[in-house]
Amino acid sequence: MKFFIDTANLSQIKEAQDLGVLDGVTTNPSLMAKEGVKGQQNILNHYKAICEIVDGDVSAEVIALDYEGMITEGEILSALHPQIVVKVPITKNGIKAIKYFSDKGIRTNCTLVFSAGQALLAAKAGATYVSPFIGRLDDISSDGVELIYKIVEMYNYYGYQTEVLAASVRHTQHILQCAEAGADVITAPLDAILGLLNHPLTDSGLEKFLADYKKVNG
Ligand code: G3P
Repeated sequence: MKFFIDTANLSQIKEAQDLGVLDGVTTNPSLMAKEGVKGQQNILNHYKAICEIVDGDVSAEVIALDYEGMITEGEILSALHPQIVVKVPITKNGIKAIKYFSDKGIRTNCTLVFSAGQALLAAKAGATYVSPFIGRLDDISSDGVELIYKIVEMYNYYGYQTEVLAASVRHTQHILQCAEAGADVITAPLDAILGLLNHPLTDSGLEKFLADYKKVNG
């Protein structure tokens, strides 16, 4: 399973990259705004800065909702750096744009996916990744992880190449649940990824090893 970090924060991206297990980055307009990145040129420069930190795919989202606008923005984003994946929302125009990008060999991430039907359309249009938002489904008393199971099963059944990228992952347990469900990728905040390290028996075991070492070695 690939690990992406879900942030536009450069120092967190660097920290995750330094850990050696990072496969990519996802951003969205809210995450860019959170970092105070504004204005088209600054936004493009920020994506380039992210690409220079990581080795893997970097999702950059289009803002336009109309088809022509999506194509124009997506082509600018994709020309920015070979690691850029154009993130497109699952709308009628979005599906048409994903098909266009797919035919041109431009990689895409179909975002804001909340149902198996939306994921089916994304795969048929040739999306590289599909992003079901599991945390936001949990927020409305639905089951986000269950959707990952359904999409993985459906894609496997038909042999779709689109990778299931579990998004809106909020905590460490979500990562483990997505791994069990067979997600190809999870994108999560740094804290959720680092949470995988934690176990009280590791802490107490390490403390005992060091204490025993000191008894003999001083
Ligand atoms: O990966 C999508 C993500 O950024 C949305 O997360 O927590 O706002 O639902 P959240």
